[in-house]
Amino acid sequence: MVGLQGAGKSTWVAEHLAATHAVVSKDHWPRARRREARQRRVVAELLAAGRSVVVDNTNPSAEERAPLVAAARAAGVPVRAVWLDTPLPTCLARNEAREARARVPLVGVLSARARLVPPTAAEGFDRVDVVAAQPARGAAAEPAPGSAPGE
Ligand SMILES: Nc1ncnc2c1ncn2[C@@H]1O[C@H](COP(=O)(O)OP(=O)(O)OP(=O)(O)O)[C@@H](O)[C@H]1O
Ligand SMILES: [Mg+2]
Repeated sequence: MVGLQGAGKSTWVAEHLAATHAVVSKDHWPRARRREARQRRVVAELLAAGRSVVVDNTNPSAEERAPLVAAARAAGVPVRAVWLDTPLPTCLARNEAREARARVPLVGVLSARARLVPPTAAEGFDRVDVVAAQPARGAAAEPAPGSAPGE
């Protein structure tokens, strides 16, 4: 998965992949040390056991995605990127609407936004899917990318 905090990754995973894939996320061990190393080990173990795996983190840069592509290559399985291309204002609004303990600090969202580079096949993905944010049904439209009030 690729997408900012609040983009809707975990929601999308629950709807589309949780029935068929083991869901791995560094968020599952918020207080563990060396979470990156732990995640890589868990992914490798699951793939070695023949499981399909989804990694539910922001994964904004090619550098952060490379170890996951490498893990799939090492296991001889195809690897897919699913980018939740949700506009920053929508991510911020959804994050703001979360319960306080689930809310991500603004600096974290902005840091991920600064590092975000859309995933491409050139990184080694066999498939790249882009999921655009849908306006909420029955509610006012969420802000469009680049929209400015009063224009
Ligand atoms: N398609 C959608 N339309 C409207 N709201 C959504 C949609 N998808 C998710 N949300 C809401 O937005 C919030 C963030 O969604 P979610 O937890 O799936 O994001 P995330 O990308 O997993 O964020 P994080 O990286 O912080 O884990 C949740 O409150 C969720 O209910
Ligand atoms: Mg999530």
